[in-house]
This record gives sequence, structure tokens and C-alpha cells, in this order.
Amino acid sequence: MTPRIVVTTPIPEPAAELLRTAGGELWISQEGGSLPTERLHEVAQGAHAIVANLRDRVDAELVEAAGEQLRVVANIAVGYDNVDVPALAERNVQVTNTPGVLTDATADLAFALLLMVTRRLGEGERLIRDRQPWSFELSFMLGSGLRDKLLGLIGFGQIGQAMARRARASGMRIAYAARNRVSAEVEAEFDAVYLSRSELLERADVVSLHCPLTSETRGMIDAHALRAMRADAFLVNTSRGQVVDESALVTALRQGWIAGAALDVFEREPEVAEGLLELDNAVLIPHLGSATVETRTEMASLAARNVLAVLAGRPALTPVWP
Ligand code: DGY
Repeated sequence: MTPRIVVTTPIPEPAAELLRTAGGELWISQEGGSLPTERLHEVAQGAHAIVANLRDRVDAELVEAAGEQLRVVANIAVGYDNVDVPALAERNVQVTNTPGVLTDATADLAFALLLMVTRRLGEGERLIRDRQPWSFELSFMLGSGLRDKLLGLIGFGQIGQAMARRARASGMRIAYAARNRVSAEVEAEFDAVYLSRSELLERADVVSLHCPLTSETRGMIDAHALRAMRADAFLVNTSRGQVVDESALVTALRQGWIAGAALDVFEREPEVAEGLLELDNAVLIPHLGSATVETRTEMASLAARNVLAVLAGRPALTPVWP
């Protein structure tokens, strides 16, 4: 078989190099931005492997457009809410993602967001860039310290735990809510307390989201959840925008239900709710969780190695199913 590999977005050269070793035809989009659905379906025709990213809708229609020979879709992301996994499984198309390689970069960014919002760094930066007058005063632009504060993690997988490690270094205490309780060893490593989601929302000084987007978590941080949080608490989101009801969040930030929010992801990305743009207590970052040269290279290379494995009839390295 001479494989046709379709990559829907430009990728770092080391990953392209890997894919070239498959022989056959390698098509890498140079079209900039995400491919419109019609174009995605057009370029997928005849593909044995598709290397996709989180802006691509990977569903039964794409598989139909590609044809029966399609073996694998390798998503360059740890999240795969853009993929209709059951539809692909039904058609025997493997799905892979990129866990592990982006853990540190994403946790670094999440912790940076936590610092930005608790220490008012965005506000301070804006003040200087706006050429506002300022001087050192004991009461000037005070933020909230971290020592002994409770970080409440919703989702306690690799990234949640990496975030906990960073927070522990700053003297924070750790609580988590998750579908499955982790082992006693892992809890002991972080001195972490397992709480129900509602208890965590009520008690945490900072709530940080590290869960995947699923039918269970979509809209999970709604008005009810935000009202349950403390008025001096902060929200950090590096998971998926749709986990948070953005209009409820705007109300919460405006009305002082919570003290601030730092967001790397948005409900209707790349659109950002107008209300958020006007708020000083919102830190807004354009989905940069895994955006380092090293991490993006590793993510694309892992996707490439998954493609090579499946095309060679070997098990995928990081399959989403089975
Ligand atoms: C992911 O991998 O799911 C991130 O959102 C992008 O790195």
C-alpha cells in the first residue's frame, strides 16, 4: 500500500520528516487557519491517515469523504472533543491523541494564569502601557498571596497533578474533585483532599479546571456553580471554553460573585465575549496552554509516530480507544 497522509495544518519539520518515512504521498496544508469543512472533506479523499487538530470536526462525514481505506486520525492535542470517537470506532478508524508531552507546558501556563489573576499582573501591565500615573505605595494594587490558600482542582489527571506540584511549591494546599478518586499514594504526594465538586467550589480560594470537555462537563461552571464559589475566590480555565458558561461568568465577575478569572480558552473560540473584554478582573490569553516550540514539536511528532505505527500494522502509541 502506498499511503496518502493528510495533515490539516502546518506542522514542525521534525514531525513532517517522520511522516515522510512512510513513503507515499504526504499532503500538508499550507492554507492557513482551519480548513473549512468542504475543503477538509475534499483534501481527505483517499487518505489512509489524517493528522488533525482541535479545530477540525472529525466525524462520520469526514470518514465517508476520506473513503474506506482510512485507518487512523491522529489528533494533535490531548483533548479530542472535536472527534466523534464512537462514529470512528464504528468504522474501525483508530483515533489517537497526544497525552503526556504537553503536561508541563500546560501546567506552567495554568500556574502563570493563577499568578496573573491573583497578583493583578494584567491590570498592572495595562496601567503602564496606558501611561497611567503610578508610584510605589503600601496599598497600591494589592493582590492575594498564595501561602496556605486552597487550590481546588477539577480534574486530577496528569495536568491537574502537575499544576498541584507547582502550587505546592508556593505553599498552597490542594483539594481535588474528579470522577475517580486517585490512589492513596498520589493523594499523599500532594497531601490532597478529595472533595465533591460542590464542596470544592464552596471552599477553594482558586478553582482550576483540568477536566476534558464531555457531555458531563459542558457548561459545568454555570451560574449556580459560580454563586457557590467564595466572593474572594478565583477561577482558572486551561481546559476547554465550553466547560464554563461565559455569560454567567461575565455576570459573576461584574457582580462580585467571585474575585477574578483567568482564561486560556473560550466558549466560542476565537471569539471572546464582549463582556469579558471590559473587565479588569479577567485575564484573557489566546489558547496558549501547550504553545512552546518544544511542546508543539513533540505533540506533532507523537501524532506522526501514531500514524506510522497504525499504518505499519502496529498498535498506536497513545490510542483514544479501545
Ligand atoms: C489540547 O491539547 O487539548 C490543548 O488544548 C492544545 O494543546
